[in-house]
Amino acid sequence: MDLKRGREPLVIAIDGPAAAGKGTIATRLADHFGLPHLDTGLLYRAIGRIMADRGFDVDNEDLAAVIAENLDPDDLRDPRLRGHEAGELASRVAVHQKVRAALVRFQREFAGRDRGAVLDGRDIGTVICPDATVKIYVTASAEVRARRRTDELLAKGRDVDYARILSEIRSRDARDSGRATAPLKAADDAVRLDTSDLDREAAFAEAVAIVERVAGNSTAERTSFRST
Ligand code: CDP
Repeated sequence: MDLKRGREPLVIAIDGPAAAGKGTIATRLADHFGLPHLDTGLLYRAIGRIMADRGFDVDNEDLAAVIAENLDPDDLRDPRLRGHEAGELASRVAVHQKVRAALVRFQREFAGRDRGAVLDGRDIGTVICPDATVKIYVTASAEVRARRRTDELLAKGRDVDYARILSEIRSRDARDSGRATAPLKAADDAVRLDTSDLDREAAFAEAVAIVERVAGNSTAERTSFRST
């Protein structure tokens, strides 16, 4: 089935916990289907990074909201945002309701582009794009995710310890799932993709199969609805 040439917009929402592999899957799906991709984690990472650089307290909701309202797309280019520390800062600013509210419009406008888009994050299928064509919840055990993150950091020459990364992943999971606003959880209509036993290639192949199946079904449903 050739979804690339379809006329209906294709909005793909990818959610899941830290280091489950959603970033790689989202990037590759966007490339495969010829769609723009927004890594929404970068928005929260940029806010955390800017606050830390200016010596602000990331737990100050009003201050964080002002930074969120004035975020510039160029702020997302800072290479330090990919780092582990920015991820920790992001998860602290992401608990603030006012910060999340300030970022909704930007994300929805991105998702509303003509041909569609791929967005990955924590609340894409539940809050930002509840009508996404396809929702995938990418997950893996905390141990596998900690191992992947440790190997990634070691490969970059960082001196890291598996036990510490595992405990940080667990506390980040607890903070992301336990927060009051837009907690991390799978949308009821999301397809779960557990990558614990899959390498990158297999996880990507599975994600493509999910998109083709779900988007194919939704096109068929719309067609049969129109013809009745
Ligand atoms: O993949 P990883 O968790 O390392 O990074 P990320 O996706 O960039 O997310 C960093 C943090 O930002 C998460 O722990 C969440 O607290 C927060 N986040 C969020 O709350 N909502 C999103 N849509 C994306 C990220």
